[in-house]
Amino acid sequence: MYSPHIPPWPSRDPGHGSIRLRRFADKDASMAMDLSQDPYVPTIGSLPAHCTEDEALQFVERQRQRHCDGTGFSFVIADTVTDRALGAIGLWLRELGSGRAQAGYSVVPRERGKNVAATALTALTDFAWTIPGLHRIELHIEPWNTASIRVAEHAGYQKEGLLRSHQEIAGERRDMLIFAAIRPQGIRKVHHAE
Ligand SMILES: CC(C)(COP(=O)(O)OP(=O)(O)OC[C@H]1O[C@@H](n2cnc3c(N)ncnc32)[C@H](O)[C@@H]1OP(=O)(O)O)[C@@H](O)C(=O)NCCC(=O)NCCS
Repeated sequence: MYSPHIPPWPSRDPGHGSIRLRRFADKDASMAMDLSQDPYVPTIGSLPAHCTEDEALQFVERQRQRHCDGTGFSFVIADTVTDRALGAIGLWLRELGSGRAQAGYSVVPRERGKNVAATALTALTDFAWTIPGLHRIELHIEPWNTASIRVAEHAGYQKEGLLRSHQEIAGERRDMLIFAAIRPQGIRKVHHAE
């Protein structure tokens, strides 16, 4: 069921450069299976490690539900030309009432190092500023995760500090760097496209 608390799905896929952000489809199960081979990705989300096709399809279905249940927007990062799925990126809006959102992203191992995540985060951030009442987007990144830190910096996020013992990952309390982007001046009131 659609939640009235978050904006409708965008009528045009957000995009930047050679990347577009689109809805999950069953065909994206193979991308989810590739992501599940990464040692870190399964520890930070609901994707089981080394998942089966059935588990990948269930993951895809959970991503489709994120907007329906009001959690936020879960997008496939797709190649604009081929529509091939390269990864996943989410804009989580549980704190939209306070003007805040969180974002997270993963790219399949064989597509890394090609600027995919930075381009996708730029597209997601531009899309986020079309949401009325959103003023701040946060990223939580482990200090060792240099690739993710570079992605945040490339997309214009600034480091604000270290949240010590912020959350449990793989059974251990972990410190998290907090990065944030703030709504640019002059984009105060943009109405979301139906
Ligand atoms: C983090 C992640 C999304 C980056 O995806 P990507 O598409 O390879 O990222 P990009 O190509 O846009 O940029 C990566 C940047 O990090 C750098 N980088 C990549 N791997 C690196 C490594 N192991 N050590 C240091 N820098 C690294 C690249 O050189 C590039 O920086 P540069 O353009 O300044 O040279 C990907 O590694 C991933 O999915 N990791 C597992 C999930 C994860 O950690 N998600 C983020 C949680 S906060």
